[in-house]
Amino acid sequence: MTSNAPLFDPVAIGAFEAPNRIFMAPLTRSRSEAKTNEQTGLHALYYAQRAGAGLIVSEATQISQQGQGYAWTPGIFTEDQVESWKPVTDAVHNAGGRIFCQLWHVGAISHPVFQPDGGKPVSASAWTPEGEAFVGDRHADGPQVPFEEARALRTDEIPSLIEDYRHAARCAAEAGFDGVEVHCANNYLIDQFIRSATNCRSDEYGGSLENRLRLMREIVAAVCEELPADRVGVRLSPQGGPGGTEDENPGETYPAAAKALAGRGLAYLHVIRPNSHTGQGKDEGGDAIVKDMRAAFDGPFIANGNFSPEEAAQWIAEGHADAVTFGRLFLANPDLPERIAQDGPYNEPDEDTFYGGGAEGYTDYSSLEKVDDPLPA
Ligand SMILES: Cc1cc2nc3c(=O)[nH]c(=O)nc-3n(C[C@H](O)[C@H](O)[C@H](O)COP(=O)(O)O)c2cc1C
Repeated sequence: MTSNAPLFDPVAIGAFEAPNRIFMAPLTRSRSEAKTNEQTGLHALYYAQRAGAGLIVSEATQISQQGQGYAWTPGIFTEDQVESWKPVTDAVHNAGGRIFCQLWHVGAISHPVFQPDGGKPVSASAWTPEGEAFVGDRHADGPQVPFEEARALRTDEIPSLIEDYRHAARCAAEAGFDGVEVHCANNYLIDQFIRSATNCRSDEYGGSLENRLRLMREIVAAVCEELPADRVGVRLSPQGGPGGTEDENPGETYPAAAKALAGRGLAYLHVIRPNSHTGQGKDEGGDAIVKDMRAAFDGPFIANGNFSPEEAAQWIAEGHADAVTFGRLFLANPDLPERIAQDGPYNEPDEDTFYGGGAEGYTDYSSLEKVDDPLPA
C-alpha cells in the first residue's frame, strides 16, 4: 500500500506555503442569495469547516452579470458582493486557512434570463449547447430549461470582457481572498475560445491554435497586472464540462495552453484529468495529457479528478503533481486532511444536496471534531 505521507509535506504555492498538499477543488453549491448573488453566513461556516486544506479554491464566482449561467451562484463584481465575501475569507483565515477565488464567465452555458439585457449569452462563436440551463426560479418553466443559441462576441467587445476580469480580480483582493484562479476549464467562456468545436472565429481570437489561446493569455496577463502573478492560478481541463463539445485534438491543444502560461511566475496550474467523473481518467490517454501539461508548465502543478488519497500520494511521490485537489471527498468530509492522516473513515457525498438548498448536505457533514460557527446567530 502507498503511504499517504507525501500529502503532508508542506509545499510552496506562489506567494505562500501550504502546510499540506490536500487542496479543496472549486465546488459550485448554488446557495447564494437569489437576486443579488451575495454570500451568506452559511458560506462562512462551510468554508471555515474546510480550512484544514492546504488551499481552498472557492466555488466558481461570476465576474459580471453576463458571466452568470446558473441560479444562486455567487458574484464578485458589486460592492455588496465583495462585502458578503469578507466574512467568508475572514472565517477561513481565522481558522488558519488560505482561499483563492475562482473567477468565472460561463459564456454560452447560460440563458437569456441571466443576461443583463435579456439577450443572447455570448461565446467564441454562435452555437447552442446540448442540455439544459439551470435557471432555478428565474423562468416559469424552471428549474431547468433547454439552452438557447449563444452569439459570437464581437472583436470590439473583448477589451471590456478583459476589463471585467480585471475588475473582478480587484474585487477578490478587496474581499480578502489570498489570490484568484482564472477558470479556463470545463467548456466555459475561455475554454469555448480554446476548444476547436466552439471557436470558428476568423479574427485574431480564432483559427490557429495560437489564436484560440489568445483570450486566455490576455485575460491572465490582465489579471496579473491587478494582482502579483504569484497569487494567480489557472484551471484547465483537456476534456469535459457541460454543453457537449470537445476539442478535436486535446493532446496538442492543452499542453500548448500549459506552455502559453509558463514563464509568468504564476502561483500554479490546476488541471482536471479527462473523463474523471466517469473514472476513465485513469486511462493512460487521459493521464498522459495531464503529464504533458505538467512538463510544459514551469510552476507548481495541481492535479484533480477522481483521485483517491493513495493515488494522489503516489502522483506526488512520483513528481507528477505538487498537490491534488479533492472535490466530492472534501464536500462530504470537512476535515479531509485529518481523515486522510488516519486512513478514514470517510463520509459519502449526497448528490441530491450538491446544488441549492440550505445547511443540509452543506454544513452538516460530520467532522471527527466539531468546528464552531464563526458567525453564531
Ligand atoms: C457539486 C460539484 C460542483 C462543481 N463545481 C465546480 C466549479 O464551480 N468550478 C470548477 O472548476 N469545477 C467544479 N466542479 C468540478 C470539481 O472541481 C472537480 O473537478 C470534480 O469534482 C472532480 O474531482 P473529484 O473527483 O475530486 O470530485 C464541480 C464538481 C461537483 C461535483
